[in-house]
Amino acid sequence: IQKIIIDTDPGIDDAMAIHMAFADPRLDVLGLTTIFGNVTIDNATRNALVLAEMAHYETVVSQGALVPRRRPPEPPADFVHGGEGFGNVAPITPQGTAISQPAARYLCETCAAHPGEIIICAVGPLTNLAAALDHDPAIVDNVKAVVVMGGSAAPHGNVSNVAEANIWNDPDAAECVFAASWPVTMVGLDVTEKAQCTPADFATLAEQAPAIGGFLDAATQFYFDFHENKTGTRSCFMHDPSAVLAITDPDYFDFERMALKVICGGDEIGRTLPVEDTSRPQVQVAMQVNGAAVRDKFIELVANADKARDSR
Ligand code: BDR
Ligand code: CA
Repeated sequence: IQKIIIDTDPGIDDAMAIHMAFADPRLDVLGLTTIFGNVTIDNATRNALVLAEMAHYETVVSQGALVPRRRPPEPPADFVHGGEGFGNVAPITPQGTAISQPAARYLCETCAAHPGEIIICAVGPLTNLAAALDHDPAIVDNVKAVVVMGGSAAPHGNVSNVAEANIWNDPDAAECVFAASWPVTMVGLDVTEKAQCTPADFATLAEQAPAIGGFLDAATQFYFDFHENKTGTRSCFMHDPSAVLAITDPDYFDFERMALKVICGGDEIGRTLPVEDTSRPQVQVAMQVNGAAVRDKFIELVANADKARDSR
């Protein structure tokens, strides 16, 4: 069973990824570390607690950074995820609270307690990971791997033509993450956009797992609206679930190794740029995905989420 910590800004597709991970018997989700991005840091932490409680999943929630490393913060992406993070689903008050240890410390100390065993799956802006590198540089050896949803191998973006939201929200932090000597996998936007689900898929989940699938179906309607307004098609991208599946089902992806630099200023701010630079570490970059396999595995796991919850 693979131990993971999910660094997240929940967020509708974050909620999909987290519930899918909770339902996957191949994973042990030790913790959720939270980050600003789709929502404010307070809402991210509240939402992480809500997701864990909804699934009766015993996991730690540790709160992370409030703002980016250097740049002034951007407003949350309420037009994509709704003001509270789960679309039009009314905010839910959790029973529990986050631990007092902040995310950067929690990441370092937990990886040090289980050297070589933990994969950090980062599906939000990378500020906490950069802060962890500052807090204890030994994390590069203690962590098993880091899997990032963000950026793009080919020039592509959802904030600008070349910038993906997670990298764009804190390019300076992303640059630290890609420059550090830990094993990093990047699952970029050019790949995650190839994995999509439809309203019918979520209706199926609502039927098969009324509590958790039903919640995801309700939250995702807002995400479908956003996508439909932009493209005319009512479907949604499986960004964050794809990053989790890159851990459990790497065969769904084709990877190439390359050095990556993040553009931290100017017109192309937030772009992840492949560079020929042997002094920089190699990143394992997803180049292709079997989108149907991602969709099918997501549905298979989440359809079982209520049963998995009831067994806990
Ligand atoms: C990424 O940005 C966020 O809106 C999503 O949750 C995902 O992590 C996609 O660009
Ligand atoms: Ca996210």
